[in-house]
Amino acid sequence: KKETREYKIGFSQCVGSDLWRKTMLVEMKTELSLKPGTKLSYADADNSSSKQIEQVKEMINEGIDLLVISPNEALPLTKIVEETYNKGIPVIVIDRKTSSPLYTAYVGAENYQVGKIAGEYLANSLKGSGNVVEVMGLPGSSPAIERDRGFMDALKEHPEIKVTGQFYGDWLGPNTETQLLKNKDKLKNIDAIFAHNDVMATSARKVLKQLNLSNKIKVIGVDALPGNGGGLNLVSNKTLTASVLYPTGGKEAINIAMRILNKESFSKENILQTVVIDSSNVQLMKLQWDRINSQQSDIERQQTLLADQFKVYNSQRLVLNFIVIT
Ligand code: FRU
Repeated sequence: KKETREYKIGFSQCVGSDLWRKTMLVEMKTELSLKPGTKLSYADADNSSSKQIEQVKEMINEGIDLLVISPNEALPLTKIVEETYNKGIPVIVIDRKTSSPLYTAYVGAENYQVGKIAGEYLANSLKGSGNVVEVMGLPGSSPAIERDRGFMDALKEHPEIKVTGQFYGDWLGPNTETQLLKNKDKLKNIDAIFAHNDVMATSARKVLKQLNLSNKIKVIGVDALPGNGGGLNLVSNKTLTASVLYPTGGKEAINIAMRILNKESFSKENILQTVVIDSSNVQLMKLQWDRINSQQSDIERQQTLLADQFKVYNSQRLVLNFIVIT
């Protein structure tokens, strides 16, 4: 008989309240439901690096077999991740990175590419000339640094495209609004805005509307999530011109975690694919998500059925045991 061990995976999330990270957690839990006996201990650091460090310390004291972490900012979280790794606890870094190579595996899309694809898409749709504003994520978080680098590198090939303003929206809608309203003069003659996520892109569109600026101004975001409030809907209702798909990697992280825990082979770098979603392919993407969703609910239905049958079987066995004993 195969020995089954119970594992406890600690998941330290830099923030849990937005749709992208809620989707990541759902993906993880769905995948975990297929791996009976494995528990998830979850902590949400609410955008605070110091809180995240404390939460990781608590998890380690509590006892976990593996840590999955999305570090709020790279530098402040590096030490605790290195310490965890050096204690012999495997660490999977997801989406955001630390500043150190000391981790067991990484899962996420290549953020340099995400920025580069956005830059190339903008340059193309502006036919090689125009004024662009960039709204960046939280300074010091690795996707903000890498998306900016990729974006700027893409635009180097197009000298007639000028970046006329760069602001930090810290990944958040309200911060984006404050920054853009404070710098509204910089928005007057622009042709496009690239925001590092769809949340900030949506706020950018809102500000443009509020200031009565042209609805011809292109707004590009990142994430392209399915569902209510997700980027796919925002592209199809024309709030956003385009969004670069940024998969959450929740499912992949759990799969890699299980391989590590079961001492199977795995890759250290697990790079997820990305693609631009605009009006030309958004309907297709939505259809694909709907299909995945309905397959998912089929699986869930079957699992409930199986669980019910298992209960019936167990109670029959109990009755049988009872008959045999008496
Ligand atoms: C969610 C989020 C995403 C973005 C990612 C970068 O918290 O802001 O919108 O793509 O984090 O780490």
